[in-house]
Amino acid sequence: MAQVSSIADEQTSTPVSSSKSITLRISRYNPKHDESSQFMEFSVPYEKWTTVLEAILEVKKHFDHSVAVRYSCRQATCGSCGMMINGKPRLACFTKISELNSNVITVEPMNNFPIIRDLAVKFERLFDSHHKIKPYLIRDDSELESDEREFLQSPKEVEQYIQFANCIKCGLCNSACPTMATDSSFVGPQALAQAYRYVADSRDKGKDTRLKIIDESHGIWRCHFAGSCSQVCPKGVDPAMGIQLLRGYLLGFRS
Ligand code: SF4
Ligand code: FES
Repeated sequence: MAQVSSIADEQTSTPVSSSKSITLRISRYNPKHDESSQFMEFSVPYEKWTTVLEAILEVKKHFDHSVAVRYSCRQATCGSCGMMINGKPRLACFTKISELNSNVITVEPMNNFPIIRDLAVKFERLFDSHHKIKPYLIRDDSELESDEREFLQSPKEVEQYIQFANCIKCGLCNSACPTMATDSSFVGPQALAQAYRYVADSRDKGKDTRLKIIDESHGIWRCHFAGSCSQVCPKGVDPAMGIQLLRGYLLGFRS
C-alpha cells in the first residue's frame, strides 16, 4: 500500500479545521512515460459539505500541484469533472465525501475515455459523435433568414424533449456504457440522447437525416439496453429511454 500523506501534518497555508479525515486514493498515470497507473494516498480532512473535487484540490494545494484534474464551474453545470469515484462514474464537484459512506475514496479517470494524465481524459470521441448527429435545429434556409418568424411551442411540445436538453456533456453515460467498452466506433448514449432531443423537437425538420445517421452498423442497434447510462446521469437525462424512443421512430411505432 502506498504511504499516506497527511494534510494536517504537511500544510503550508491556511489550516483545515476538521477532526474527520478520509484516505483519498488518486490514480496517477502519464501515458508519455508510465507503463501503468499507480495510486497515491493522502489523508484529507473534510466537513459534511466537502466535495470530492474540493478534496482533490486540497491535495493539489498542499502536496502535489501536478495532479491532473479537469474542472471549471464547481456546480454540476460545465460537465468537466467526471471521474470514477469508488468505482462509479460521478461528477467530483457534485459528490460529497459524507454521502459516500466510506473512509477510503478512490478516484480514477473515467472508463471508456483515453487518459491524458491522471484524472483528465480526452473528450474527442464524445464530441465527434455529438457533432455527427447534428446537435442543432434544422430548418429551411428561407425560414432561418426571415427575422419575422417565431417558432413558438406549446408547453406539451416542450415537454417532449426538455428533459433531454439538460445534457451537460459530462460523458458519465458513455463511461458507464458496456457497449462503449467493446465497440470503439459506437456512437454512444450521450449522442443518441441528443439525437432524440432534436428529433422530438417540434421546431426541427431534421428527423429523417438524424435517423439515417444513427441507423448504421455502429449506431443505435448496438445498444443492449443495459441502462447503466441512465443510472449515472447527474442531470436526469435518461439516455436509455431516448434510445428506446428513437427505435420507435425507426421501427415505425412513432412518426
Ligand atoms: S446524458 Fe447525462 S451523463 Fe450523459 S453526457 Fe449528458 S448529462 Fe452527462
Ligand atoms: S466542475 Fe463543472 S460539472 Fe463539475
